[in-house]
Amino acid sequence: MHPILNQAARFRCPLCHGVLTAGATSLRCEKGHDFALSRKGYVDFCPAARAGAYDDALFDSRSRFIQGGFYQELIHRLNALLPQYAPDGPLLDAGCGEGSFLKAVCPDPTARLCLGLDLARPGIRRAARGGGGWLWAVGDLSRLPLADGTMAAILNVLSPATYPEFGRLLRPGGAGLQVVPGDRYLGEVRALVRENLHQETYSNERVLKLFEERFALLETQEICETYPLTPEQAADLVAMTPLTQGIEKERLDVTALTSVTIHLHILAGRPR
Ligand SMILES: C[S@@+](CC[C@H](N)C(=O)[O-])C[C@H]1O[C@@H](n2cnc3c(N)ncnc32)[C@H](O)[C@@H]1O
Ligand SMILES: [Zn+2]
Repeated sequence: MHPILNQAARFRCPLCHGVLTAGATSLRCEKGHDFALSRKGYVDFCPAARAGAYDDALFDSRSRFIQGGFYQELIHRLNALLPQYAPDGPLLDAGCGEGSFLKAVCPDPTARLCLGLDLARPGIRRAARGGGGWLWAVGDLSRLPLADGTMAAILNVLSPATYPEFGRLLRPGGAGLQVVPGDRYLGEVRALVRENLHQETYSNERVLKLFEERFALLETQEICETYPLTPEQAADLVAMTPLTQGIEKERLDVTALTSVTIHLHILAGRPR
């Protein structure tokens, strides 16, 4: 049986909240809601989810860009925070995209159960490529297909946060690590697409406030580094960020993009 089906008891039906049991190729609840294990090695809890802006091309670029080392400091910090606040037990990457961060933060998924979940099927498909022991699911953060108290840690990197759901999933003593953009994050891309942005500067004050309503803050950390870009990296950067969604890439002067600022805040907390 596929390892994710062996974990049936950790999941719950996202539609009726019923218990799920494993069949040969799916997880199924008593009411007959059935979630197939794809041949690519993930369970699809949102078969109706339609392709959006997060497509194969975006995730290919995002993957190459992350492998380019721009997030190495973030990975380093998360690798230190996780053992400190949630040293063992299941880890969920909520909004994992193409999976690079989960794989980097937990390179040995035999040490702890690691599940990456995202609504974008192209991301999960890419994450599941090559196997390796991490578990992957297509699912919606607003109705997570997991049972109460089943997670020791939740990682949430540059993705929507659903704090009530995170609180429900975390077991006592569990911790949440959220990564949110700082106001200079990808500032060079913002400058390039300024006229197309609804909001020129990004403010994370609201996110911080919401986090603190739901989580007792353990600590925050800030990363702010500017890196030079090769033309290939600049092209990947433009293609991998939702900031350029809906803009014809040909209209952007990518040659003007010679550096990038990675400004991030890490929020660590335990549910109140
Ligand atoms: C900027 S990407 C970040 C992905 C990954 N954490 C990374 O940093 O590369 C935001 C992600 O949130 C996911 N997302 C947005 N709304 C979601 C939802 N309701 N449920 C699950 N994932 C969602 C998108 O599909 C996308 O992969
Ligand atoms: Zn059901």
